Amino acid sequence: MLSLGIMKIGQKIFRTESCASTNDAAQNMALQGEEEGTVVLCEEQTAGRGTKGRKWYSARGKGLYLSIILRPRQRDLSLLPLTAGLAVRDALIESVNVFIQLKWPNDLIYEQKKLGGILCEGSFMGNELSHVILGIGLNVSHRREDFPEEFRSQAVSLKLAIKREVNKEALLSKLWEMLDFWYRDFLKGEKRQIMKAYEEFSVFSLGERIEVETEKEHIKGEYKGIDLRGQLLVRTQEKQRSLLAAEVIQVRGRSKEG
Ligand code: BTN
Repeated sequence: MLSLGIMKIGQKIFRTESCASTNDAAQNMALQGEEEGTVVLCEEQTAGRGTKGRKWYSARGKGLYLSIILRPRQRDLSLLPLTAGLAVRDALIESVNVFIQLKWPNDLIYEQKKLGGILCEGSFMGNELSHVILGIGLNVSHRREDFPEEFRSQAVSLKLAIKREVNKEALLSKLWEMLDFWYRDFLKGEKRQIMKAYEEFSVFSLGERIEVETEKEHIKGEYKGIDLRGQLLVRTQEKQRSLLAAEVIQVRGRSKEG
């Protein structure tokens, strides 16, 4: 096997009962030189963060809240959250036989509800990438009432999905294995393989009508997959667009032309 000189993911794990955000804790460790592959895992986050400045509710003992220090050579990180989604998907299949779908770019979806999410944050020193913190949040043993009321209709946990308790440690060891596998593909630049796998397990099907919100605009069009940079491809009435940062807010069924 090609040696890429990284420490195995999950070989070194810092476990804490409670922290503000595992991404912040891992960030501090990375700045102090902690090795690639090191994980910060906690039972509860008091200031868990989601994408786009949102809060990530992290009920004590109910979920997996973890962050991994990565030090990839490439500066382009856009495929990394997608790669992590694929790893979580494989780990869930192998450890609990749950099949999830991936919603571009960060969401982990089970039967149209949110099971988890990924928060990938890169730190640069000038032009050089110094490290990346890959944060993963997964709802494991939440009951409906453990979710804040406003999210109850859109959120799900593994326990709600399979109606039994989940062995978190078994799930974690599969997760390290799968993250290791997919991260190596990412490092080797296997962009097509990552893109194709992501498209295969996406919640959207090719030709489906979607509505997308970027910082500046609201776009309606047809889902055309993702490109080799992990950008979302949307065909509007005028032209095909490639979007790096956006949120798909509405799905309206397959277009007649698509
Ligand atoms: C999202 O779907 O918006 C991303 C959620 C990411 C949550 C995880 S939990 C562990 C890590 N620490 C954080 O503060 N956030 C991520």
